[in-house]
Amino acid sequence: MSIELTWLGHATWLINDGNHRILLDPFLNDSPTAPQKASEVDADFILVSHGHFDHVADVAEIANRCDAMVIAGFEVAEWFANQHDVKKTIGMNIGGSLSLSFGSVKMTPAIHSSQMPDGAYGGVAGGFLVMLGDRTLYFACDTALFSDMQLLRDKGIDAAILPIGDLFTMGPRDSVTATNYLNPKQVLPTHYNTWPPIEQNAENWAEMVRAGATAEPVVLQPGQSHVIE
Ligand code: NI
Ligand code: MN
Repeated sequence: MSIELTWLGHATWLINDGNHRILLDPFLNDSPTAPQKASEVDADFILVSHGHFDHVADVAEIANRCDAMVIAGFEVAEWFANQHDVKKTIGMNIGGSLSLSFGSVKMTPAIHSSQMPDGAYGGVAGGFLVMLGDRTLYFACDTALFSDMQLLRDKGIDAAILPIGDLFTMGPRDSVTATNYLNPKQVLPTHYNTWPPIEQNAENWAEMVRAGATAEPVVLQPGQSHVIE
């Protein structure tokens, strides 16, 4: 089974296994680097890692237009149901797994904050282990480096998507350490170059990965896709 992974800029990713479209942290209309607007992106499932505006901005619009299922931490899922009339939500929490039509999702820890754009409590930030068929993707989402990433080593991660922007999340050097903790086959950078404070040189990052880890670095431009065979 092949999985198409498309970077829509910032921390927004679209996973397509041919039958299901799974969107992560849609931030499109106000993103300076997004190649598409929210009205142009369809999804069956929307995963939301935490409450910050650069991860939740277009969730409700896409969920309500596509009748998509929103999967998020409990407080974030409740906020979409109550404040934005999202009909299909599943709230979960760190360490929990969920079986879905495409496979399963496990919410993993993240060291980060989580407040909704209106100031409401957003619970704790998380990441996602997404299993589709025999493929496993790990989205660290907004987080610092933490040593318990080593607990995911035995999951057989095909692709790890790690933030490299620094300032709000881990930076390039810590992401190389994270790559070694996780031991994925491939690693893709995210959450960088959206704005000047998180500018990074992705080619320099790729060189650091080649020199310091065994995973293959895969650098995409916003709008580009990578196929995991
Ligand atoms: Ni954040
Ligand atoms: Mn963020």
